[in-house]
Amino acid sequence: MCGIVGAVAERDVSKILMEGLRRLEYRGYDSAGLAVLEGNGLHRLRVAGKVNDLADSLKQSPLKGTTGIAHTRWATHGKPSVENAHPHICKDQIAIVHNGIIENYESLKQAQIANGHAFQSETDTEVVVNQIYDSFSDTGNLLEAVFAATDKLDGAYALGIISPSEPGRLIAARRGSPLVIGIGIGEHFIASDVLALLSVTQKFIFLADGDIADITCDGVVIYDENRKVVKRPVSISELSHDVAGKSGYRHYMLKEIFEQPRAVHDTLAGAFNNGRIDETVFGQKAGKLFDRVKAIKIVACGTSYHAGLVARYWAESIANIPCDVEIASEFRYRKSVVHPDTLFVTISQSGETADTLAALQLARHSGFAASLAICNVPESSLTRESDLVFLTRAGAEIGVASTKAFTTQLVALLMLVTVLGRRLGMTSETEAAIVGQLQQLPGRINSALELDGKINLLSKQFINKHHALYLGRGLLLPIAMEGALKLKEISYIHAEAYAAGELKHGPLALVDEDMPVFAVVANNELLEKIKSNLQEVKARGGRLYVLTDTGVQLEKDDDIQVLKVAHVEDSIAPIVFTVPLQLIAYHIAVFKGADVDQPRNLAKSVTVE
Ligand code: F6R
Repeated sequence: MCGIVGAVAERDVSKILMEGLRRLEYRGYDSAGLAVLEGNGLHRLRVAGKVNDLADSLKQSPLKGTTGIAHTRWATHGKPSVENAHPHICKDQIAIVHNGIIENYESLKQAQIANGHAFQSETDTEVVVNQIYDSFSDTGNLLEAVFAATDKLDGAYALGIISPSEPGRLIAARRGSPLVIGIGIGEHFIASDVLALLSVTQKFIFLADGDIADITCDGVVIYDENRKVVKRPVSISELSHDVAGKSGYRHYMLKEIFEQPRAVHDTLAGAFNNGRIDETVFGQKAGKLFDRVKAIKIVACGTSYHAGLVARYWAESIANIPCDVEIASEFRYRKSVVHPDTLFVTISQSGETADTLAALQLARHSGFAASLAICNVPESSLTRESDLVFLTRAGAEIGVASTKAFTTQLVALLMLVTVLGRRLGMTSETEAAIVGQLQQLPGRINSALELDGKINLLSKQFINKHHALYLGRGLLLPIAMEGALKLKEISYIHAEAYAAGELKHGPLALVDEDMPVFAVVANNELLEKIKSNLQEVKARGGRLYVLTDTGVQLEKDDDIQVLKVAHVEDSIAPIVFTVPLQLIAYHIAVFKGADVDQPRNLAKSVTVE
C-alpha cells in the first residue's frame, strides 16, 4: 500500500528519499514520485512505474533540495498514471504525499470547484492539497493551515506536507494510516514504516492517531488531536540497517521461507519456564485477565485469518475452550453478540491492516473481557491499542506473500490455547507434550525445507495450469486454504481449498485430468477418511499430489505423486505442512516468471479499507 518518505536536513535529501522509496517497494505500488524544495523553488518528478524508472528520470533531470517528500502510490481513486502519482501540488505553493482514503472527497471537491480550483488528477488526495492551500492563503502559516484543513477531512490519512514559502519545514499528520518520525542529528525524517529510514537512523517516534508534527532540522514538535503539544516516546529500533537485503536468495519470499526455523526459534525464546509456558509472554497482566476467559473470538484477514482457523481446532480439541474466528471486514460491519468472558484476539503481521484495526476499535467498546494482539511489528497501531500483546519474532517480512509471519503466528496461538486450557482442565502432561513439540519445531521445519529440490522439479508440471484444488481435513483444512491462497496470489493460478469431505457436494464436478489436486494428509484419526476422498478424485481422472509424513503408507500408484515430510506430531503438523506448500507456490510462480515478491494488485500492508 502507498509508502511515504520525507526529510528535512542541511544536505541534499533526494538520495535519502530514493533509498526510502526502495525500502518501501515491498509494500506494493504502481507509481512513484518525489518533490524537493531548493531555495524558494519547488521541483517535482513523477512516473507511472517503478522506483527504478523514477531513478532513471532523476538521472535525466536531477533534483536537489534540503527538504522533500516522496511517495509510492497503490492506486485507489484513479488509475496508475503520472497525473495521479504523488506528490500533488496546488499552485506551486503546497506539495503533499498521502496514504489513506478521504471519504468526504466528493463533497470537498464540489466545494473547491465552486471556489475556482481546477483538478489535475482523479485522486482523493487533490482535495487535501487544495484545502491546505486555501487555509494557507487565510493563515499564512503552514502548520495552522494543516490544523484547519485536516479538521475538514473524514477518512484515513498519513500526510507529508511542504511549501516553498516555508523552506526547511516539513509537516506530518496522521489519522488512521501509519506514520513514523525518524530522529537524526540535525536532520529529521518521516516514513510509513521504520524500514524506510534504517539507513539514516535507528531512533523513531511513532505518531499517535490524530497527531500533527512540525518538523525542522532543529527539532520536532508534536500536537495531539486537541492541538496540545505532547511528548511521544523515542524508541530505538532493533532492526539492522541491512534487514531488507536478500542474503543471496533470489527472492525475499524464498529467504523468508528458509528463515522459518530461526523465526520460530526466536518466537519461542524465553517462553518456557520449568517445562511450562510462561504466560507473561502475552503481557504482565495476562495471568489476571486470562483467569476470566471462557471463550475466544479471533478476528483477522487473509493469511492471518487462516492462522486463526487453525487455532479454533486447537482451542476446542486441546484446550476445551470455545473459539470463533471471523474475517475482520465482516466482523466490523455486523452486529454480533458478545459474551463478556470472551478474549478478543487479533492476528496481524503488519499491525496496520485497516479492517483488523477497525474490528479491534469496535471490540474495545463491545464488552469483551480483554483484547490480545498477535503481531509481528512492535509499536504498530494494533499493539498500541490492545490490552495484551504477543510479538512474533519473525523479523521484517518483505515478500508480499506472508510466510514466516504465518508460522510464527501459529506458534503464538498454540501457546495461547495451552495457557488458557490450563485453567480449563488441561493436564500438565498435555502441556508438557506441547512444550516438547514446540521445542522440536525448528528442527521439524528444517527437515520440511529439505523437500525444496523435489518441489522445484515437480513445480514445472504446473506452468500451463489455470486451476488447482487443495484438500485437507481437520487441522490441515486451514493449511490447505493457506496453500491455495499462496498459489493464487503469487502465480495467478486460480486455486481453491475444500474440506475433503465436501468434494462430493459440488467441487468434484471440476475434477478431470487437467485439474491438479493437492491433498494435505496427516497421520491421524482422519487418515482413512481422507484416503477415501483421494479415491474419489482418482476415479475421476484427477492428478493427485499428496503431501504427507513418513508414517503414512499410500498404495503405490503412478497417478499419485507423494511428498513426505519426516514424522511430525499432530499438534504441530499444521506448522510443518505449511512449509512445502509455500515452496510449491514459490517455485510454480518462479517458473511462470511472476513477480514473486511484489505480485500484481497486492500490497503488503493494507492500510485502507
Ligand atoms: C497473504 C497475505 C495477506 C495478509 C492480510 C492481512 O500472503 O499476506 O493475506 O495476511 O493482508 O495482513 P496482516 O497480517 O498484516 O494483517
